[in-house]
Amino acid sequence: DIKSLEDRFNEKIDKDIRIEPKDWMPENYRKTLIRQISQHAHSEIVGMLPEANWITRAPSLRRKAAALAKVQDEAGHGLYLYSACETLGIERDQLLQDLHSGKAKYSSIFNYPTLTWADMGAIGWLVDGAAIMNQVPLCRASYGPYARAMVRVCKEESFHQRQGFEIMLTLCRGSEEQKKMAQDALNRWWWPSLMMFGPQDKDSTHTEQSMRWGIKRFTNDELRQKFVDVSKPQADLLGITIPDKDLKWNEERGHYDFGEINWEEFFNVIKGNGPCNKQRVDARRNAYDNGAWVREAAAAHAEKKAKKQQA
Ligand code: ACO
Repeated sequence: DIKSLEDRFNEKIDKDIRIEPKDWMPENYRKTLIRQISQHAHSEIVGMLPEANWITRAPSLRRKAAALAKVQDEAGHGLYLYSACETLGIERDQLLQDLHSGKAKYSSIFNYPTLTWADMGAIGWLVDGAAIMNQVPLCRASYGPYARAMVRVCKEESFHQRQGFEIMLTLCRGSEEQKKMAQDALNRWWWPSLMMFGPQDKDSTHTEQSMRWGIKRFTNDELRQKFVDVSKPQADLLGITIPDKDLKWNEERGHYDFGEINWEEFFNVIKGNGPCNKQRVDARRNAYDNGAWVREAAAAHAEKKAKKQQA
């Protein structure tokens, strides 16, 4: 009966035994995973857009090759995650429809514009840095397919973070003008990067339950603090300044204190009113519509092949 199924599920969670697609799971566990994994997948796919803008503008062949590889990795992460999500019993097409209709969320960060080449550096360093901070613990998430997908994703994210930091380092060791570009990119990307970790714990609707289920292993505020703590020495090494006058080492806490995040801006962006929300969703919708003929052709081909095999 349902009670013993639930007991068995809870026992697995307590013992840190992975939940697999064919195992019984509470309906809300399934829904929470579909929500988080699909939002994560959408983020990878929408996340290709701000950077794709710079592939043709990258300053050298080497930079172009790295940018191309990185954007391709993100496509791969998205496909991986959609597959993991489908194991929960939802169709990919439904997930895409929810993105295109504005029902499903994707990370707030990808609704900001990439104005200069230095933004490619700042995104790799900060945005991918924040993504790793958030995703390494997800390698231990209780749902097997999600956790396993995260292992490879995190390895590739580390490469992205390093290529971004190296772009920043090159700019910071370059001319005055290049260093200014790096500082300007840091100024614009710092606060949105902190927002990636989600609302403060007191305002986070899902954290408590997701921690109990072993989906999340740290709270939003805990991960944000870790990110601030590792980023400050990196900014010092680059010789640029994090745009926060309240950022200082707190000996007692053993962490950096930092200033108030503009939560109004965050909630505005996730409601769809950020600087690039419309542009991003339009781009995805157009890509889907323009690809309709490919899907139709593939389906027709598969049907023809199946008929031939029968004959
Ligand atoms: N951007 C957009 N929406 C967000 C963000 C964000 N940065 N942070 C939180 N939200 C949304 C949540 O999705 C939730 O909305 P919903 O109930 O409509 O789904 C709401 O704000 C409340 O937040 P939480 O209760 O804290 O939600 P949750 O427990 O899901 O935590 C988090 C949010 C930390 C982003 C979690 O979902 C997560 O770890 N996801 C996987 C990682 C991920 O998606 N990364 C994407 C960016 S990294 C990259 O793609 C390179």
